[in-house]
Amino acid sequence: MDYSKLSVTTIQAAKIAWDLFSIKGTAKVLPGELDFNFKITGTNGDDYILKISRPDENESYLNFQQEILQHLSLNAKDLITPKVITDFKGNSISEFEDDYGQFRKVRLLSWIQGRVWSGVNPQLDDLRYSLGVQCGKLAKALQGFKHPEANRDFEWDVAQGAWTDKHVDLFTDEEKEILTYFQYTFKLAQPAYSTLRKAVMHNDANDNNIIVTASLVAPTVVSAIDYGDAVYTQIINDLAITCAYAIMHHNDPLQAALPIVKGYHENFALTPEELAHLYMCIAMRLVISVTKSAINKITEPDNTYLLISEAPAWELLKKWRHQSADFAYYSFREACGFNSHPKEKEFNIWANSKNSNLSQLFPTIQKNQVHHIDLSVSSKWLGHESEFNDLVLFQYKLDKLQREHPDDILAGGYLEPRSFYTASSFEKIGNHGRENRTIHLGIDFWLSSNTPIHTILEGEVVTSIYDNSPKNYGGLLILKHNEGDLVFYTLYGHLSKSSITKLKTGDHLKVGDHIGTLGESVENANWAPHLHFQVMLSMLDYKFDFPGVTYFNQKEVWQGICPNPMLLFKYTGNQVNSEIPNDELIYYRKNHLGKSLSLQYKVPIKMVRGSGQYLLDQYGRKYLDTVNNVAHVGHEHINVVKAGQQQMALINTNSRYLHDNINELAKELLESLPKELSVLHFVNSGSEANELAIRMVKAVTNEKDIIASEVGYHGNSNMCIDISSYKFDGKGGKGAPEHTHIFPLPDSFRGKYKGENTGELYAKEVQKQIDIVQSKGRGIGALIVEPIISCGGQIELPEGFLQKAYQYIRAAGGLCISDEVQVGCGRLGKTFWGFQLHNVIPDIITIGKPLGNGHPLAAVVCTPEVAEKFANGMEYFNTFGGNPVSCAIGAEVLRTIKRERLQDLALEIGEYLKIELQKLAIEFQIIGDVRGQGLFLGFELVDIENNPLGQHADYLANRMKDHGILMSTDGPDHNVLKIKPPLVFSKENAKELIFYLKKILTEDFMITY
Ligand SMILES: Cc1ncc(COP(=O)(O)O)c(C=O)c1O
Repeated sequence: MDYSKLSVTTIQAAKIAWDLFSIKGTAKVLPGELDFNFKITGTNGDDYILKISRPDENESYLNFQQEILQHLSLNAKDLITPKVITDFKGNSISEFEDDYGQFRKVRLLSWIQGRVWSGVNPQLDDLRYSLGVQCGKLAKALQGFKHPEANRDFEWDVAQGAWTDKHVDLFTDEEKEILTYFQYTFKLAQPAYSTLRKAVMHNDANDNNIIVTASLVAPTVVSAIDYGDAVYTQIINDLAITCAYAIMHHNDPLQAALPIVKGYHENFALTPEELAHLYMCIAMRLVISVTKSAINKITEPDNTYLLISEAPAWELLKKWRHQSADFAYYSFREACGFNSHPKEKEFNIWANSKNSNLSQLFPTIQKNQVHHIDLSVSSKWLGHESEFNDLVLFQYKLDKLQREHPDDILAGGYLEPRSFYTASSFEKIGNHGRENRTIHLGIDFWLSSNTPIHTILEGEVVTSIYDNSPKNYGGLLILKHNEGDLVFYTLYGHLSKSSITKLKTGDHLKVGDHIGTLGESVENANWAPHLHFQVMLSMLDYKFDFPGVTYFNQKEVWQGICPNPMLLFKYTGNQVNSEIPNDELIYYRKNHLGKSLSLQYKVPIKMVRGSGQYLLDQYGRKYLDTVNNVAHVGHEHINVVKAGQQQMALINTNSRYLHDNINELAKELLESLPKELSVLHFVNSGSEANELAIRMVKAVTNEKDIIASEVGYHGNSNMCIDISSYKFDGKGGKGAPEHTHIFPLPDSFRGKYKGENTGELYAKEVQKQIDIVQSKGRGIGALIVEPIISCGGQIELPEGFLQKAYQYIRAAGGLCISDEVQVGCGRLGKTFWGFQLHNVIPDIITIGKPLGNGHPLAAVVCTPEVAEKFANGMEYFNTFGGNPVSCAIGAEVLRTIKRERLQDLALEIGEYLKIELQKLAIEFQIIGDVRGQGLFLGFELVDIENNPLGQHADYLANRMKDHGILMSTDGPDHNVLKIKPPLVFSKENAKELIFYLKKILTEDFMITY
């Protein structure tokens, strides 16, 4: 039918609402496949949905929909569903005559407040779980409902999807392959599928039929609307349709489906038989959808609604085709609380009845006990990553351990989270950023090369393959075992090449047969010799390979597919998990550690390993670190670690003894400084450095009045807090003490003076403070300020400010301190020290965080004049400051900066990142300012009137963490995102950061302010 003769105008719709239902209001067009839908905003304060059918609409079908709504109103009190509004005659279905003389059926329903699913961004697991809950409740409420129309022929009904195979010629060859694959699977499944439970189901939880609460941070589903697709069909089809739409646009659609399945099952219990068809039913709904779109493109080219989900449906279908159906089934089972593999229990019972032992597997070894070897992310035995990447060293450690435990086999690793699978094949981009396979699925037996391996069970070779690419198995053999009804597989990885050439697929092996020997490292993908032994209850879709390591978020599913291999030897003591759960750590902290110690992020993380620009939690999740400027040359830089370890092994004592290291560190530091700053004192923290600096000031000037910046932070000790406006003007603070004088934050973006050329104006503010001190008859001790004020929100000092301010201070007899604790050691790129950006030379500089790369080491550097006056006879003693271990570390940090050209890199990557951030600021108005130097950057979130948006900054940092990127917020209004990563941060890292910032900046919460 001519589409233009069907459409209804908003004026007509408003008139219909008034004429038939006595509702006065305005109308707005809404999307709809067949009906013409309008939102009526009533002058009575209520909203409605007006649905106008096509002229040929079957009244009984409309009546079916109205009766469902009436059934739900009566029987599902805990559900919000549209209410039927009757017309002035009391009819639930009314009628009007359109401009072409056609009679059209009209229905009016109450409007459900909220947002439509399709407009919600992001759609997270919690939201999808609530979708499952809502649809499950609805399914439950619909049980028992009957209507003759429910049994109609209906092309959108998954159960009736076989019609689509007549239209495959509308598609490309690639598309055709996918469609026919699923159509064929559907056909094959009919005998079992057709026996599944049936009921009248909603059957259309598509993204325009789901209403979600208004919350932008934690939205939940309120209601499913539009019962036009309700039909009597297999119950599982309803869930399949719900999933099909809600998992579009996700990198990993299966993972996205699981919360929906869980929520549904918790409210309306599904059977394993139904779950076995869910993967296929999801596919069939998509097959129907893309076939409908292809047909409609020809028949109703103007109806764009029919094409909305075509592209995402295809995108999903293509991904779904590559998804193992069995793995999907096991995942659905796990989400519903069943054993992920249906045979898991049976296998356990069978294994329990067997009497194998390890000496049958390794007859030449004749040992039956194992010594557990910890290769987990947090393993201290494993040590630094370079140690386990060094094969010779790793083997040496193994041999030593073996000598210490001569009667045991060194073994372990089942479900162990490991960090050393670094090949790209172990990484993917999931629904929340980068994901790494870390969970080990087998047991590793660390035995020497050429150790013979024999079968413990009769079996048939199904895989015999040699792949020596990095971090692969080398020689891999998989045997299939049939034990009564039970079929399972055993996997032997890291065999010698010759073992593989001897055995072919199809070969049959008896109990006790020799199956091969352990490979040397060179033929074993460069691992120390060991056997990776794994049990599988399914081969999934694998033929020539099988994963030995999996993703943490799939651990439970894989645990069912790959049971503990030690069960075969009646030895389960091997499954060691010594990790203390985070909840327990938090609980203990709360009770026994200082209450004012804070934890980062809404859901805190436990970090157990550092590696360059990354931090790893106990499960091996890798976080890109943009926060920790302390790990200046990279987390656990091997040279720095070694320098500390080596010196620690020799001697660590105080600086009253002569030692090379303290002089070495002094030389390295002085090389980077102007000749005026030539005397050093070593301390243990930034706070201690500033504390000492103020002592020097008092000794030199005999004055105690200090001028400091608003929102400046200089440390946690008594004196440091007294000069830190960030603290005494913040929560719990009591304002500036008598001898501290604060000048306004020299912020040219939102500060007292804005725009260009504010340096002089802010310097005058320093002079004002000098005047105040002098007016009280006192003199100036010092000015202390950071070259970029970090806690203030990465505030760059305006041009000329520092020069002028130093001039004023010196004229008043005071000293100038540059606090370089955050910014020093090359981070700023253009210069090694922050003060050098401003062409001044301070009297004292304080250095902290980066100097020890995580080790507590700090320093105070001053002029000889200051040093001379400070040495007034009172000895300066510091138990730990300047000890040989700290100095070895500090000197190595400075050498590493030079050797690896980290200052140059900070400049190059920092400038690239700043430009990219500036581009983001053009695209997203919320970014008001981008600032900083080198890899000490910040960007500020504000509304159109430049009001700070602290909650948005917090949201952004937490969402970035969800994507594996650590960020922090700061500034007086906590609305500044700070970027100060280890200097090994690469251009690729910068690109990744920008990619996810861009993604999160489009989310509903970030665009609403
Ligand atoms: C600028 C500045 N100065 C001094 C300190 C104090 O250093 P620490 O925490 O090592 O005592 C900090 C710490 O964050 C700082 O940011």
